[in-house]
Amino acid sequence: MDYYRQTQLKNYNSFRTEAIAKIFCQPQNVEDLRKCLTDHSQEKKLIIGGGCNLFFTKDFDGLVIHPQIKGLREISDEEDEDEDVFIEVNASENWDEFVAYCVERGFAGLENLSLIPGTVGAAPVQNIGAYGAEVKDVIKEVVAIDIETGEGISFSNIECEFGYRDSIFKRTNKYIIISVVFHLKRTFVYSPKYFDLNKELEDIHEPTIENVREAVIRVRTRKLPDEKVLPNAGSFFKNPYIEQSKVEELSRAYPNLPAYPQKNGLVKTSAAFLIDNAGYKGKCIGNIGTYPNQPLIIVNYGSSDGNDIVNFMREVQNEVKNRFGIELEPEVRIF
Ligand code: EPU
Repeated sequence: MDYYRQTQLKNYNSFRTEAIAKIFCQPQNVEDLRKCLTDHSQEKKLIIGGGCNLFFTKDFDGLVIHPQIKGLREISDEEDEDEDVFIEVNASENWDEFVAYCVERGFAGLENLSLIPGTVGAAPVQNIGAYGAEVKDVIKEVVAIDIETGEGISFSNIECEFGYRDSIFKRTNKYIIISVVFHLKRTFVYSPKYFDLNKELEDIHEPTIENVREAVIRVRTRKLPDEKVLPNAGSFFKNPYIEQSKVEELSRAYPNLPAYPQKNGLVKTSAAFLIDNAGYKGKCIGNIGTYPNQPLIIVNYGSSDGNDIVNFMREVQNEVKNRFGIELEPEVRIF
């Protein structure tokens, strides 16, 4: 495995921000990965999968690891072979190619998560979610390596400490995910959970798993920009959780405020709605702006400096805070 010095990271983050990594490597297997950890034990480390949920504001003074560990195997389950399917997928497989693989075979559970950019290994890090589904619902186990010790560790679903766009892997930065074991089903039953998707499928009596994947792809393509054409990192902020009293106060002025009560007593509202109603839908400052079809997405129209994105982010946060008294927290990681 080669080590590259002073490597440009522009093509390793979907926002296309420029930054130089002191050292860069692409391990092809777990042995390579362990070797680069011991060869550079004193260096700061950053792991990049698809690079679809991060950007840079400065150079990275350490080792950037861009794993290329591919492969997939179906694990048969003796006890309940008819219904349950277990598949172990290595971290560097492309997420949507894996979803397509499952949908083709009728393995149910991932279809709502079609067309999300990135790798399989990144999916548990931020517990990717869309159209009423979250990847945590179909993860049995995550296999990782401890960056400090090189030791292999297996995390059960509970041990991953999944939350909304969150997990132990996002919070601690201590592990490199090498594979994920999924628990899927052979029987597909459409459960209507999300307005946009139900609407897309309203003319189909009993949607098949393929119908759902196709519908998700159509909705996403209409609403979300393709990062290859217009650099972005998907939703930029998390949807905020607020108090019921806050919902009542805001609903007087904004009767359409989306409000989804949660089990913990808080209410989830829509960051897109807040940004839209703060006057920031489609608004640009210099080369950075929100996407006209979905203001939760910040897009880069041509800047190479991540600080421009941070400045724009702060302006949106301030405006939303002043107008609604709600803090928007970024979902994207900033380095
Ligand atoms: N809205 C507006 N103005 C707009 C667009 C939306 O007010 O211009 C409001 C509407 O009330 C709408 C609501 O925002 O009903 C929600 O919009 P949408 O259905 O597009 O979903 P979202 O909450 O903005 C979340 C995820 C997306 C995921 C979609 C679909 C987060 C941070 N984002 O967005 O995930 O695709 O739901 O399930 O939870 C991502 O994480 O990168 C991502 C794209």
